[in-house]
Amino acid sequence: MGTKKPFELKRIDHIGIAVRKIEEHLDFYRDVLHMEYLGEKVVSSQKVRVAMFKIGESVIELLEPTNPDSPISNFLVKRGEGIHHLCYDVDDIHTALAELSNKGISLINEKPVIGAKGVKISFLHPKSTKGILVELSES
Ligand code: CO
Repeated sequence: MGTKKPFELKRIDHIGIAVRKIEEHLDFYRDVLHMEYLGEKVVSSQKVRVAMFKIGESVIELLEPTNPDSPISNFLVKRGEGIHHLCYDVDDIHTALAELSNKGISLINEKPVIGAKGVKISFLHPKSTKGILVELSES
């Protein structure tokens, strides 16, 4: 009999991995790990090309910058290739953002924006999430 949680994280929606060239990583995910390749898309607002692999209910996203001023380019310069962000699917993103903000978490998106998949998303600032860039989605 605990108190009711104000919001609930349902699952890991996707993990974003920053890469310099998608082609250099396709073999590993598709042919070595045998993940199902879902195809790719370009998200022009984020200046990024995305290759997607399905793993259970989650997706691995390889993120390649399409422009030197892409956020992914900045990440690659600072940190090199590797995990860029984690996206948790949440039951109620508006409630979650209000609650997190109350607890002092800084929000990159104060209000949810519509992401590439047409669902509401919001990023939490890594300075207040112990160094991990966290994305919330409500799908
Ligand atoms: Co994402």
